[in-house]
Amino acid sequence: MNILLIGAGGREHAFAYKLSQSPLCTQLFIAPGNAGTSEFGKNVKMNPNDFETVGIFCLENNVELLIVGPEEPLVLGMRDYFEANENLKNMLFIGPDKMGATMEASKDWSKAFMYKNNIPTAAYQTFTSDNLNEGIAYLKTQKMPIVLKADGLAAGKGVLICQTLEEATSELQQMISDKKFGAASSKVVIEEFLTGIELSVFVLSDGNSYKILPTAKDYKRIGVGETGLNTGGMGAISPVPFANHEFMQKVIIKIIEPTIIGLNNENIKYVGFIFIGLIKVGEEPVVIEYNCRMGDPETETVLPLIESDFVELMVATAKGKLHETDLKISTQHAATVMLVSAGYPGDYEKGKLMTNLEPSNNSMLFHAGTALNNNNEIVTNGGRVLAVTSLGNSLSEAVSKSMKTAENISFEGKYFRTDIGFEFL
Ligand code: AMP
Ligand code: GLY
Repeated sequence: MNILLIGAGGREHAFAYKLSQSPLCTQLFIAPGNAGTSEFGKNVKMNPNDFETVGIFCLENNVELLIVGPEEPLVLGMRDYFEANENLKNMLFIGPDKMGATMEASKDWSKAFMYKNNIPTAAYQTFTSDNLNEGIAYLKTQKMPIVLKADGLAAGKGVLICQTLEEATSELQQMISDKKFGAASSKVVIEEFLTGIELSVFVLSDGNSYKILPTAKDYKRIGVGETGLNTGGMGAISPVPFANHEFMQKVIIKIIEPTIIGLNNENIKYVGFIFIGLIKVGEEPVVIEYNCRMGDPETETVLPLIESDFVELMVATAKGKLHETDLKISTQHAATVMLVSAGYPGDYEKGKLMTNLEPSNNSMLFHAGTALNNNNEIVTNGGRVLAVTSLGNSLSEAVSKSMKTAENISFEGKYFRTDIGFEFL
């Protein structure tokens, strides 16, 4: 079967690696892909948000299965475009429609969804320019710190945790009146601050039934000990030690089941990945956010633990036959360390020559921000450059393998966190 994978990051390199392992994969295309994905398939220069071009490509290349990695094409209605087109509507498609992607695209919508379905989440109120003064008054009634969230997509930057009333008031005004995050912050969710440890739960849904993938914990801050600025993710581990059977039963009963039923009640036939960002408050799981895609770098951590044929799994999902498949998960542990460019998440330089990229310690390397230069050499091309994943019989074994491999790889300005998984080691 010919497969088209949409995306260009470490997440998509990990998808490409899993898809290409399957005997069912005849030809894999990645649009646009990166220097790593071309190891497993053919990179196609194409703007994923140009649905017409993607559709024509699929027809000309007999693509039968389309998997969307990032949220943007889904939020813009890629699935809806395919479903509305006579020649494309039978394509096997992984990713929700525009309505389903609203889970991620609107914090206000997803909060209302959770309230409606009794899914545990932080208390909140939503404000716009129409009731900004009420928002300022509301802040005065709240405990600090408090969380302000731009309703729309803001490239992962739209969440602010404010320590004082003055800061929160000023930020609320900047978000709504000064359009701090553009149109994304014309509506702002003000949310109760929760204290606890976070984890990510990934659910694969075919619209009716679902499978739960291994849990993961990512490390978002740039500095050791979870300090400094927020990043796209500096590493991850899987499975999460505290997400034991008892805890996961709570997640299933209080969160996953009502989410699936709630989506059906909204007439959303959700086919794809649901990424549930959770926080464990006391012993209880509480939802922080939904995303309509897999996480990055969590995908690089979780996918290597899946032993089932990945193409078979995707086909069953797209056909609504997930209940007929058996999801086989490795009993090993996985740890991913992200190598980033000096300066990230602020300004950084690109084009640094990368050497010692031969895998060592049985680690897997997933390219996040790399490119080939004119001499066909691999150079850095982003803030997050390379994800190093290793498996081990224990978390500490997995972590120490990834650390050793991360040390061996060279490029000017290389930085990585040396404490991935620290709370559990
Ligand atoms: P989000 O984009 O919604 O995932 O938020 C980004 C990060 O902000 C989360 O991963 C949390 O670390 C933090 N965060 C979001 N909402 C809350 C909350 N209600 N309480 C505490 N931390 C939060
Ligand atoms: N690692 C968090 C995300 O993908 O949103």
